[in-house]
Order: sequence, then C-alpha cells, then structure tokens
Amino acid sequence: MRAVLIVFVLLPWVPLKAETPKVDPTSGLVVAPGWQMVQAHCSACHSLKLVTTQRGDREYWLGLIRWMQKTQNLWELPPAVETQVLDYLSKHYREDDWGRRPPLPARLLPDTP
Ligand code: HEC
Repeated sequence: MRAVLIVFVLLPWVPLKAETPKVDPTSGLVVAPGWQMVQAHCSACHSLKLVTTQRGDREYWLGLIRWMQKTQNLWELPPAVETQVLDYLSKHYREDDWGRRPPLPARLLPDTP
C-alpha cells in the first residue's frame, strides 16, 4: 500500500523534474556555459540572489551592467567575458521565464460550483 502511494505521489513530478535545469547549490545559478563567469564577476558586491531573482532580455542585462559600471563601480568586463555573461543571462534568466510551475491539469483543480 505504501509503495503504491509513493508512486502516485511522486509520479506527477517526474516530467517536471526532467525539465528543471541543474542549479549550483552554492551560487544558486543554473549550471550552463558561462555560469562560472557570472559567479566570478557578479558576486563580489551583492548576493547572486539579486541576479537569480531578476529576469530580462539581453538589452535589459546589458543596461544593468552599464548602470552598475557607471554608478556602482562595477569594473570593465573584457568583451569576450561580457558576451558570455550576456549570452548566459539572456538565455537562462530571460523575461518570459520566471520559473513558474506549469498550470495544474484540470483533474487536479477543484470542481467549480
Ligand atoms: C562593483 C560592485 C558590483 C558588481 C561586481 C556587480 N554589481 Fe550588481 N549591483 C551593484 C549594486 C551596488 C547594486 C544595487 C544594490 C541595491 O540596490 O541594493 C546592484 C544591483 C544589481 C541588480 C538588481 C537591479 C534591480 O533592478 O534591483 C542586479 C540584477 C545585478 N546587480 C546584477 C549584477 C550582475 C549580473 C553582475 C555581474 C555582471 C553584477 N550585478 C555585478 C553592484 C555590483
């Protein structure tokens, strides 16, 4: 009985789990090309949580970097590094990806009166 229950409890999570990207436990960053560059350059002044809770397109991230460079003493990033950082952020922390869970299937919703 218990085994059956466990299967039913865990089964719905299996497809979700497969979609969930791997996250580095220390930094909280999605592990994908460029993440260590972001960890190296973006964690000196503030928590990386500030980064991982933010979303935006490439233009947004570039604007933010320029703003920090102008007003917050962020250093100049070498062009190759900046490209990697922007590629990474605009891919894994883009505007339309707020990490929301997919909508519940109808069978899991309460009956509407
Ligand atoms: C030299 C210091 C410094 C470094 C390095 C730095 N930042 Fe910042 N950043 C700041 C400061 C200061 C703020 C403002 C914090 C606040 O408002 O509390 C900030 C704010 C932010 C915010 C929040 C913006 C908002 O609208 O609230 C994000 C996102 C961010 N930084 C991302 C990054 C990324 C990505 C990098 C790496 C490319 C980075 N930071 C590197 C100093 C830095």
